[in-house]
Amino acid sequence: MSETNPNLAFGVDIGGSGVKGALVDVSKGEQVTERKRIATPQPATPDAVAEVVRQLVEAEGWDGPVGITVPAVVREQVTRTAANIDQTWIGTDVQELFTRHLGGRDITVLNDADAAGMAEARFGDDKARTGAVMMLTFGTGIGSALLMDGNLYPNTELGHLKMKGSSAEKYASSKVREDEGLSYKQWAKRVNKVMQRYVELFNPQTFIVGGGISRKSDKWVPYLDLEQDVVPAQLRNEAGIIGAALAVSEGLRP
Ligand code: BGC
Repeated sequence: MSETNPNLAFGVDIGGSGVKGALVDVSKGEQVTERKRIATPQPATPDAVAEVVRQLVEAEGWDGPVGITVPAVVREQVTRTAANIDQTWIGTDVQELFTRHLGGRDITVLNDADAAGMAEARFGDDKARTGAVMMLTFGTGIGSALLMDGNLYPNTELGHLKMKGSSAEKYASSKVREDEGLSYKQWAKRVNKVMQRYVELFNPQTFIVGGGISRKSDKWVPYLDLEQDVVPAQLRNEAGIIGAALAVSEGLRP
């Protein structure tokens, strides 16, 4: 498949356990090929992961633009942090890396929560594109995206806010819920404390909550007690892939 349809771009979401990708129609915010997943190689070095991205893209015979999310800060297309991925990502020029593996084409690499936030603002609930919005993704870590009327301020790392002698994500990520065997109610209490801290500091109008756990939002969102509206992500865990495709099609290069 080639680049003849300007609405098509391939989105890839790199996570700690899986690398997922699909071709996306960015005019509709829909995946047009079945989402494929390859286990994240271990160690998850940049070259090993980029090789898996190449396999996903080639499996669809796609030679057009590719947007890629990473669970890290990406500033000027260089990865600056690596909280839940291999440390060798720090300082990696991701344009150079993915161009080497995917060949010359449009490539954008951005933070995973930023991609999810962009996708929700464009294709999710109306509230996601209205006013000051904080998107949070709960998974291995806690990802964050700040949006004002749908426009992104990239690379906020609110999961690393100091809390309880540690950090917000070490206290209330969805991994912590599993590792400590917390009930949804117990976990929601922790999430509420984290979100209250965010309210004190940022006062968003609306929270969008996503990540894998957004599928089960009815089990924990009702326990949250905040002034703000808390809206479960509409695109569920497809938001990263769709946001990545959207970012590359719009020429965004954080
Ligand atoms: C990383 C963020 C990422 C989040 C969700 C955090 O540990 O620092 O960059 O967005 O996890 O994957």
